[in-house]
Parts: sequence; structure tokens; C-alpha cells
Amino acid sequence: MRPLGVVPAQEDNIQSAAEALRAGELVGLPTETVYGLAADARNPVAVRRIFAAKGRPADHPLIVHLPALDQLSQWAAAVPVEAVALGRAFWPGPLTLILRRQPHVPDEVTGGQDTVGVRVPAHPAALALLAAFGSGLAAPSANRFGRISPTTAAHVAEELGDAVAMVIDGGACEVGIESTILDLSRLDTCGPVILRPGAISADAIAAVIGQRPLGRAESEGAGGAQAPRVAGALAAHYAPRTPMRLVEPAALADEAGRQLAAGVRTGVLVRAGASFPRGVTVRMAPADVEGYAHALYANLRDLDAAELDLILVEAVPLETAWDAVHDRLGRAAVGAGLEQDET
Ligand code: TXA
Ligand code: MG
Repeated sequence: MRPLGVVPAQEDNIQSAAEALRAGELVGLPTETVYGLAADARNPVAVRRIFAAKGRPADHPLIVHLPALDQLSQWAAAVPVEAVALGRAFWPGPLTLILRRQPHVPDEVTGGQDTVGVRVPAHPAALALLAAFGSGLAAPSANRFGRISPTTAAHVAEELGDAVAMVIDGGACEVGIESTILDLSRLDTCGPVILRPGAISADAIAAVIGQRPLGRAESEGAGGAQAPRVAGALAAHYAPRTPMRLVEPAALADEAGRQLAAGVRTGVLVRAGASFPRGVTVRMAPADVEGYAHALYANLRDLDAAELDLILVEAVPLETAWDAVHDRLGRAAVGAGLEQDET
């Protein structure tokens, strides 16, 4: 199929996208978290195209996106009551559940593991496409492996334009960072474990299932069974090409000034209007956590495109509400090639 580029999320384009998916093509899919790179999850050849397009190692599993909770048992086996309760509470929404897989789920999707990741995304265009397609869509974030996740259709075209039959334009992603991943496949031995923090918090999960999930590090510390492979678990991820460092708010203006004086073209991402020396590229981020997450990847992408030598990011609060943002910033800083500021 000839690449159609970015198309609006209207009925005829949704139908063409469903046809392209049936033919084994890839489609750029808007979700409420980030844009996905979707393929028919039952078609191993199509799924392999995702890995080729992203440059992603083949043993990293993909999330299967479903049109509704009632398809869960087609993909997951031995579904625990906790999964159904969480699906009822949070789907459509930014929560991915890791469950035992049905035998037919291709190894290409699960990375050869005996589990499968599933979620129902909360974006009208994603739900329309899933309904038109009628079955599960495997979709990782639509970025090249290790790079910043896309939160607009233009970002997807920038990252992977040639590889996709089309990108459905669903506007800027509301949440802006990837779904919370909750492992329910080892309930007997480890209880519920959060593999990747996201907008659905441990407290919100606990309120539904009556048990507080552990974080990944806690579950490993508790001698849990070997953790499943999670691409987002790599120390370096979500990264701009420009070196990036996290700096405490009080030290930021001085540090930016010092770098600039040393001839380093410097940009900063800040939450409040401190004053910076002229010549520092300043990007303002919303002060509240939802707003900050919504704009985070677009802010990093813009700073990355600004021909800078260094991006300084104002460290965010250490409160649990900021865990998911903290997680992404930490990995982005490592991936950009410099250590986090310890101060
Ligand atoms: O918000 C999201 O989750 C977005 C949108 C597109 O839905 N998707 C996304 O996909 O972030 P991706 O592939 O970039 O990250 C999915 C993560 C990976 O770290 C992968 O290792 C993990 O989910 N994952 C998928 N299936 C898994 C499984 N069976 N066991 C453990 N981890 C799994
Ligand atoms: Mg990703």
C-alpha cells in the first residue's frame, strides 16, 4: 500500500486503516497515553514488521490493545478476579495488565514468555479502529527504540513515516506518558507488581483490589521470581539525542549560567518562572503533574530540535504523584548519555 501519511480520524479513514491492518500493514494509532504502532496481534508476520520499523530487539514483548473488556479471555488464560475488577474500574484507560497468555498468542507478541500484556485504550479513534478491526492490535509506542515516545501524529510521521500505511491523527495525547503496567501473572508468589509507573497509581489500584501492589524494585528485593522483561525497564529510554541532566531547582539558574559562560548551548525545562541569563533557551512546563506529563515528550522533542549542546531539566517533586514522570526523566537522562545530577 502506498503511504497515505497523516489522516484525520474520520470514519472512511478508520475503515481504510482496518483494511490495511487486515492486510498485515502497520498503522499509527492515537491513544490517550502515547501514539502506538499497531499491527494485527494474531498475524506474526505483521508483528515482526513492528520490530523492524522500531529497531526494537525481538524478545521485547508488546501490549495487545482490545476493543473491550469482554475480549480479555480471548487473549489471557486463567484470568484472576483482580483483573476483571481492575478492567471494570479503569478500562478504557491507561492501565496494562500482564496475565497468563492463551496458547494462540504469537511468540512475536509475548517475546516468547508465557504472559501477555493487555489494555483497552481510552481514545475515541483507537476504540473506533479496534471496533472496526474487531480483534486485538499489538502496539508499542510509535518511536524508534530507546527514543522519545510520540504524543502527536506529526511525531509518529517524523519517527517512522515510511514504515506505516497511515497515521490516524487523534490530536495530542491527553495523558502524555505510557500506561501503568501491572503484573498479575505472579499473584501467588509476588502479589500484584507495578512494572512501569503511570497515571493509574498504586493507591488507585489498591482501592479496587484491596492489596497494594509492590514496585518492581521492591518485588525483586523481596526475592520475587525473576521479573519479566520490560523494555521500559532499561536504564536508558525515552531519550533525546542531546545530552540531558536533571538539576535541583535551586541550582538550575546558576548551572545554566555556568554552562552558557563555558560556551555550551544550553536549554532548560522548568516549572516556574525563575530568571535565566539571556542566551539560555527556556521551555516552561506546567506546574501540575497532569499538565507536566501531558507536555513532557513534546517539550523534550522541541528542546532536542533546538540545536543545543545540553538540556537541563529542573528536578520534579519527590512525591509519589510524580513517580511516573520521575521514572521517565531518569531514563531519558541516562539515555541521553549523562548521569543524573546527584545534588
Ligand atoms: O501506554 C502504553 O502502554 C503505550 C500505548 C501505545 O498503549 N504502549 C507502550 O508500549 O508503551 P511499549 O511497547 O512502548 O511498552 C510496553 C511495555 C514494554 O516495556 C514491554 O516490555 C511491556 O510493556 N510488556 C508487554 N508485554 C509484556 C509481558 N508479557 N510481560 C512483561 N512486560 C510486558
Ligand atoms: Mg515504548
